[in-house]
Amino acid sequence: MDFHIFQTPEEASHSLARGIASLIKRCEVAGKRPVIGLATGRTPLALYRELVRMHREEGLSFRNVITFNLDEYHGLGRNHPKSYWRFMHENLFDHLDILPENIHVPRGDIEPEDTVRECQEYEAAIADAGGIDLQILGIGRTGHIGFNEPGSGAHTRTRLVELDPVTRADAVADFGHLSAVPEMALTVGCGTILEARSIALMAWGSGKATVVGKAFLGPVSGDVPASFLQDHPSVSLYLDEPAAELLAAGCEEKHHHSKD
Ligand code: F6R
Repeated sequence: MDFHIFQTPEEASHSLARGIASLIKRCEVAGKRPVIGLATGRTPLALYRELVRMHREEGLSFRNVITFNLDEYHGLGRNHPKSYWRFMHENLFDHLDILPENIHVPRGDIEPEDTVRECQEYEAAIADAGGIDLQILGIGRTGHIGFNEPGSGAHTRTRLVELDPVTRADAVADFGHLSAVPEMALTVGCGTILEARSIALMAWGSGKATVVGKAFLGPVSGDVPASFLQDHPSVSLYLDEPAAELLAAGCEEKHHHSKD
């Protein structure tokens, strides 16, 4: 795994944005369409601001880019103010030249009997696009990636899941009240994420330090689904100093023991 530690989330996000721009340009030269997996939440906001700036000021084009979002709250239609469809449009897609038909977000407003089909079609659409070139991730305080909460297996696929109480508590800031936070979500699986050719995970702030330490220094286990990334051949972590605190301390300790 590559660790990139920055002083601020902005610096880290700008670095990742440059990586995304170079992926887009490499694909253009090769005559391919880049397929990028996207996350929502607070973490990627600075990245999305920078991509919008690069589009506006540097002419970075998203015309050939295909995107797949990780997840959507169950029960929320696309126009719901808190839907991830809406979040992605407000924070990114509406400000780019991306083609609407190239945008994919799981549908949250489906009938229970249609869930399995929706999830299978989402997986099939990823496969039809040629798989994900770069998957962008945040990490939840439970250790989730996407909404793969503790207990998720490494081979899970897109499915309907129950949100962990910690995740729902963290979402109160968005929904105003716990009772308004959906109990379930559609999420791509850990297996789907691990099939991406490369993965970039971002985490900011001291509130993420413990889970980042557990995920990347601790054992690989479904108790902390982000730890599955340790077994992926191409993962880059973009961290600010507070989020990297335990990781840095743990690495020093490991280094120390290996010298003993
Ligand atoms: C969002 C997602 C989640 C978030 C995680 C961190 O699409 O898949 O795994 O990345 O919950 O959320 P924030 O960034 O709000 O701390």
